[in-house]
Order: sequence, then structure tokens, then C-alpha cells
Amino acid sequence: MDIPRISLARLPTPITSLERLSKELGGPRIWIKRDDLTECAASGNKLRKLEFSVGEAQNQQATVLITSGGVQSNHCRATAIVAARLGMKCHLILRGKPYNNLDGNLLLDYLAGTSVTFATAEQFKTPDRLYADIEAEYRVLGERPFSIPIGASDEIGLWGYIECARELKCDFERLEIEPDFVISAAGSGGTMGGLIVGNALHELDTNIVAFNVCEDEAWFQHKISRDIQSWTRRYNQELADQPINILDGYVGPGYGRADPHVYETISRVARTEGIILDPVYTGKAFDAFLQELANGRFRHASDIVFLHTGGIFGLFPHRDHFPTAQFTNETTPQP
Ligand SMILES: Cc1ncc(COP(=O)(O)O)c(C=O)c1O
Repeated sequence: MDIPRISLARLPTPITSLERLSKELGGPRIWIKRDDLTECAASGNKLRKLEFSVGEAQNQQATVLITSGGVQSNHCRATAIVAARLGMKCHLILRGKPYNNLDGNLLLDYLAGTSVTFATAEQFKTPDRLYADIEAEYRVLGERPFSIPIGASDEIGLWGYIECARELKCDFERLEIEPDFVISAAGSGGTMGGLIVGNALHELDTNIVAFNVCEDEAWFQHKISRDIQSWTRRYNQELADQPINILDGYVGPGYGRADPHVYETISRVARTEGIILDPVYTGKAFDAFLQELANGRFRHASDIVFLHTGGIFGLFPHRDHFPTAQFTNETTPQP
């Protein structure tokens, strides 16, 4: 199949075991697939999807990429940086209010020279209209806009994690492991959808599980099965129904907000393994994973892979949630 793709991510990403944490927990061997290392400023899971979305945009001779997300969207930041790198324009539709202080992903959006429209949650309920208006503005200017949906989660972006499943298959063979679960955060569902299709296509023989960081299980069941259906239609593929294992109940105070134990888990993983998670996606999902582990859900597993989907820049606007006592003043050596 000839699918337009450009090379953006540094692949394959490493996979390593969290030996100290696994020992501390006394449970299965936990592995981490480092998709936070797909790049530097453009890092994270979105870069795998953008290889295909922007590949299609270039195939259509687009000059402007339009996409949307929260004010601190990792996907928007990655798209903005990719556009600048390719000499394209970028226009972001961000849900929320303009910040007084540029921080985290938003700072990088502006540095990459992107144009921004801020939209209310109400306006975001009909994103097609927002996209259509902005597309029209660019057409008047003689540009060729290409719209990428939130999170690049559609039948084109799905290829990013279908291909990641192929990569995981090689990882597992090389390491001689047969992980029972591959776990990730779900935000717009494209990562999980791609992994589900890839699991079937490349015979990964594992269980794909995701913790939703927004919405609820029913929303993700619907969204992911719709994306997979669109993928089978567009690329003329046959695929038997696949399970969509969403573990709901860990959204906490809402999207982009986290309970104190999520921040504690982020600190614990950073201290124990030198791995940096974020409170919106990876830290929230990893914290949920640890809770499920403690409750015995994964007790029969020998190896579990946690997919680190990136998001480091989203950590900085949350700086006030970390207890400063442990960082300020001089500290003494710990036993
Ligand atoms: C860092 C990070 N992890 C996970 C996700 C979830 O991925 P998806 O939107 O494909 O469900 C996102 C984006 O939503 C993200 O930015």
C-alpha cells in the first residue's frame, strides 16, 4: 500500500525496563517504551501520527496546517514545530483563554511562529465550523490549508501507532519477552486505536489497555471504533472486531487537572528511574496503572509495557502543585 509519509520521528524509540520501580512494587517487570524520545521540541506520540497526516498534507500540496487542542496541547505544539521545520504555515485553534504568561507548549507554539485562534468550550462543540472558517480565510489569501483533527486521531493518523506496533514486535523479539499488556494514556484515542489495529495486523499477541484522561469509557469506545471503521474503509482493509479496553475512573478533577497523588507518582518515578511524566497524560495514566496494579488487576502478568507518550512541556505550567519544601534550601545526603 502506498501511503504518503514523511520522516519526522527518531525511530525506533528505546524500550527499557524500570528495574528499581518493578522491584519496589514487587510485581511484574515494567518496561517503558520511550516515545517521549521521538524528538526534542517536537517530541511525543503525536510525531508518529504527524508523519502520516503531514505526509498526506504535502501530498495535497498544502501550504498551511490547521489543527486544534487545549491551550497546552502537545499535539498542537508538535504540529507548529513540524510546520516551521517544513517551511509551512500553521494555525492553531486552542480551547481556552490567552495566557498572560507564555509557558510550556504555548511558548513553543509562539516561538515556532504559529497563528492562534482561541475558542471557547462551547465553540469547540462544533469544531468543523471553526476549521471551515479558518480554512476559508487562508483560501482567500491564495494558500492551500490542510486540517488535522484534534490529536491527529483519524484514519490517517492511526498509521502512526499501527507502525509503532510493528516496532514493538521487533522490540519484543529482540528482548525475548511476551508482554501481557501494553498500556498508555488515551486523550483523543488515536494512539490506542492504532495500537489495537497494529496488534491484530502485526500479531503482537498482547492486550492493549488505556486509561482515559478525559471524557469516559463510552466516548472512547465510540470514537476508537469509528476511527478504526474509517481506516478499514479508506484503506480497503478487513479487520475482525477488536476489544477496546479502556479503564475509566481516573480522570480525577478533570482534563488537565490532577489529584495530589498524581504529582506524588510523578516525583516518585522521576526520583526512582529518572523518567519524567506529566500530570495531564502520562503521569495520570501511570498513577492509575499503579493503583490497578495494587488492586491486583495485573497480578498474572509477567511483563507489562507502559508507552511513554511524551508531554514534558505540559509539566511546567503545573509547577505550583509540587511541594517546594523538598527542593528549596540546601539538602543533605539521603541514606
Ligand atoms: C503526552 C500525551 N500522551 C498521550 C496522549 C493521548 O494520545 P491520543 O490523543 O492518541 O489518545 C496525548 C494527546 O492527547 C499526549 O499529548
